[in-house]
Amino acid sequence: PHERVNVKTQMETLLSPDVVQLLKMIGETAAAEKMNAFIIGGMVRDILLGQKGEDIDIVVEGDGISLAEKTAHRFEGTADVHETFGTATVTLPSGRRVDFTTSRTEYYETPAALPTVSRSNIKEDLYRRDFTMNAMAASLHPSHFGDLIDYFHGREDMKKKTLRVLHNLSFVEDPTRILRGIRFEQRFQFHMSKETTAFIHYSASAVSSLSRTRIIAEFQSLLKEADPVQSLARLDELGVLHAFFPGAVWTRQTKDVLKGYLDSPEQPKDLPEWFCILFCLYLTNPDTVKAAEAAAFTKKQKSVVQSTSFLLSLLNEKEWNSLGRFHSCVSRVSDEALFFAAIAADKKQAGFLLQYREKRSKLKPLLNGHDLKAAGLAPGPDFRDYLFSLEQKMLDEEITTRDEALHYIRQHE
Ligand code: CTP
Repeated sequence: PHERVNVKTQMETLLSPDVVQLLKMIGETAAAEKMNAFIIGGMVRDILLGQKGEDIDIVVEGDGISLAEKTAHRFEGTADVHETFGTATVTLPSGRRVDFTTSRTEYYETPAALPTVSRSNIKEDLYRRDFTMNAMAASLHPSHFGDLIDYFHGREDMKKKTLRVLHNLSFVEDPTRILRGIRFEQRFQFHMSKETTAFIHYSASAVSSLSRTRIIAEFQSLLKEADPVQSLARLDELGVLHAFFPGAVWTRQTKDVLKGYLDSPEQPKDLPEWFCILFCLYLTNPDTVKAAEAAAFTKKQKSVVQSTSFLLSLLNEKEWNSLGRFHSCVSRVSDEALFFAAIAADKKQAGFLLQYREKRSKLKPLLNGHDLKAAGLAPGPDFRDYLFSLEQKMLDEEITTRDEALHYIRQHE
């Protein structure tokens, strides 16, 4: 009932001759063993878009591992076999990798758990995928090389620039697909269909079954290719921002905060970008800053959250005008926390924080312990206090020279 679509010409135009050669050979070897082999997923999508897909995913109706081993042998590559999953990765001498999968259906024992594998056919393999545009295959069989397998009308959806999930449980089975969906919307300028966004809405509670590691990994892929402001706004629009990042809020200021971060020439170097961007979502409201601890992974990230929260509460207490007095409360607070507090604070406070950070970083001691001894002070724990109060006076520019410092110290004799 469907028109027969063949993409052989597109394959031959878009893919390099050695890849076409490789695919033909895989198809022939499979056919000789009474198996069927297909390219599948992203590569087929990219071919239909007129783009060159780099990853080669092969699905085999039959024995994927044996076909992988034959391919490795024929091209003098190596095969890395995963018997339990019926998969293998072949690495060719050129470094190119080809993934082989035995056509299968995955039965999820619990949502987001590891799949249990059983054999079945290509249609079921396609049915367990994320979006219709990623659920197409092209045959490698020599007698119908390039025939498009498109049970779920992916090609039609692509023409309409629609991103559509295959069934209502797709996001429940794998909630990371929500982030993938946003990534594909932006990459291809597609738009999710109405039911797709409704399914996302109903799947929000399944997000809690994902590990934070998986969420962060997928979030990083999203950041790598999409505009973070747009992606996060979309997550909020879909109603699942808080499901992925508990306690995060999208308010009217969020965009400004994010832009403040993205445009800053001084983004903290020792923190991963995903963390910094996420942290911005918690910075628009002093009450939510603490909630960012849930998004923090490492000790360092947690400490930045805590210190930022502390700084913001200090600024809320009163209006500060002495850098020296401020120093006595925050001398141990990190530069990163000062950076984030400045992003969250109003203009005047931000100016104060950045001035403090700048001056603190340039602070060079005018005196040391020997100078104090030489000045006639008895050595002891008070030395530290003297030197610290000197720092405070330097920050307030009450003391700028060594002589002034010595004069100040002598008052303590
Ligand atoms: N897939 C899926 N659900 C996921 C991840 C992947 O259904 N959570 C399926 C899709 O059919 C996808 C294929 O596995 O096309 C390959 O996944 P991947 O390599 O991650 O993505 P691509 O679609 O190839 O996209 P990209 O171009 O970003 O690699």
